Amino acid sequence: MSDIRRMAVVGAGQMGGGIALVAAQAGIAVTVQDAFPGAADKCRALHRKLMDRAVEKGKATRPDADAALARIGFTQSIDDLAGADWVVEAIVEDASIKKDLFRKLGAILPDQRVALATNTSSISITEIAAALPKDHQHRVVGMHFFNPVPVMALVEVIRGLQTSDDVVARTVALAERLGKTPLKANDRPGFVSNRVLMPMINEAFYAWMHGVAEPEAIDGIMKLGCNFPMGPLRLADFIGLDTCVHIMNVLADGLNDDRYRACPLLRQLVTAGRLGDKTGRGVYEYPQK
Ligand code: CAA
Repeated sequence: MSDIRRMAVVGAGQMGGGIALVAAQAGIAVTVQDAFPGAADKCRALHRKLMDRAVEKGKATRPDADAALARIGFTQSIDDLAGADWVVEAIVEDASIKKDLFRKLGAILPDQRVALATNTSSISITEIAAALPKDHQHRVVGMHFFNPVPVMALVEVIRGLQTSDDVVARTVALAERLGKTPLKANDRPGFVSNRVLMPMINEAFYAWMHGVAEPEAIDGIMKLGCNFPMGPLRLADFIGLDTCVHIMNVLADGLNDDRYRACPLLRQLVTAGRLGDKTGRGVYEYPQK
């Protein structure tokens, strides 16, 4: 059983916000840190909307929803995370920015029992841990949530070379407490999820580029024929085309194999600024966003 009482979440974006909400619903007090001035208001508004919807649908009572929302605090200062007994980092996918952050977190939270989890989808856990002093490296673990966090059942638990058995066991217990199913993977490029998912998405771009079918048909065939909730090109827009290219680069470099190189058409869309849902246009158009 997880004994976490106060969790720190770094990053108030879609992933960090989702993680904070599921933790608060599980009875954990959460402090969300994001240096960007508008981030807290946006995240708070989304939390309120999701909890209102849960009440309307009879999935939560009003008092429970209000209690969950009241458990979430926001701050712009990383120093306010002192005293937390678990950290989940969900910031930008940039190894050097993450390593800097983990060095700071190690200093602000020196207690060896406080785990430092990263929600990275592709950066090596071993590499992030190596940025910390030797006697703190065992605290770093991968805790990979999926978007939308409140809906998706999985937490991929990734053990770096230095991660201790105790931290892995407590990560599994915490994921279960959050109502998720934890499944373990080793620290190899893309872990399991993106080692398998991203080449499939990349292949869908090749299918489009080679004129096998139009995007709607590619997605329709995969939805109806394979029972996917979203076709691979729609899913790429949802994830972000820039993120897809980034993960393919991690696979190609980490596995030293050019068959993982991002499809030229995928890279071209990114160059054109068509990043998917977040920019209003990727493979498809999203005028409302
Ligand atoms: N936050 C919270 N809840 C959400 C949500 C969000 N952003 N979007 C949808 N939901 C909820 C809805 O409220 C609804 O809940 P109820 O069943 O309680 O009514 C439920 O999800 C279904 O939503 P909709 O009916 O609006 O739409 P849908 O049936 O088309 O489902 C979806 C939307 C859940 C996103 C579904 O399309 C889906 O599962 N898509 C695939 C998502 C996926 O593969 N995610 C993983 C991406 S990879 C990743 O995250 C990691 C990585 O490393 C790249």
